[in-house]
Amino acid sequence: MSGEESDTLADLAERRGLDDDVYGAAEDSRLLADAAVDIVRADWRVLEVGTGSGYVADRVAGETGATVVASDLNPHACGLARERGLDVVRADLVAPFADDAFDAVLFNPPYLPTPEDGPWDDWLEVALSGGEDGRAVVAPFLADVGRVLAPGGVVLLLVSSVTGLDAVRDLAADAGFAVDVAAEESFPYERLVVLALRG
Ligand SMILES: C[S@@+](CC[C@H](N)C(=O)[O-])C[C@H]1O[C@@H](n2cnc3c(N)ncnc32)[C@H](O)[C@@H]1O
Repeated sequence: MSGEESDTLADLAERRGLDDDVYGAAEDSRLLADAAVDIVRADWRVLEVGTGSGYVADRVAGETGATVVASDLNPHACGLARERGLDVVRADLVAPFADDAFDAVLFNPPYLPTPEDGPWDDWLEVALSGGEDGRAVVAPFLADVGRVLAPGGVVLLLVSSVTGLDAVRDLAADAGFAVDVAAEESFPYERLVVLALRG
């Protein structure tokens, strides 16, 4: 990672309240949780991919009564989310989950464009870095998430203007989803959007 890139990650990490190993809840987490709480119903099965501290999964479980599974690649995140009482699975995206298993899948992905592609050598990079175009994690997620979604289910994906909103919409359309905007908020340095994807 270059010095300049490292500064950018450090700046974003500070704005997002990232501690050493686990991404802390920030404005993007809150936007995704608010959108999910509006949409999710009590009898739904919900997966949060990349749960970090477990904030989004915890809010959805507590405020909707839905059955929520939280997952992350980062074992420190899995431990924190477990401490909240969440049902946690350590996983790479949706790989271990069964076909048609969830009525909703939520993801606030790493999306910061970075000059180099992974593999990343620390958990801060894993939480923030989206590879050269910002979509290195979003693209494989979109390619596989439809598999675990039950008929009529919805994916809520947080994306930023820095990630290329049109490019993400195109990837979602290529994966067979109809795309709506469930929530959005603008900040001085980016616009955050929660996309609702339905098959
Ligand atoms: C931007 S943070 C969001 C954390 C939390 N959901 C929130 O909104 O506060 C992205 C999270 O995705 C996780 N992550 C990155 N790549 C992943 C992958 N391939 N599979 C599962 N989780 C991943 C990171 O470890 C990190 O916890």
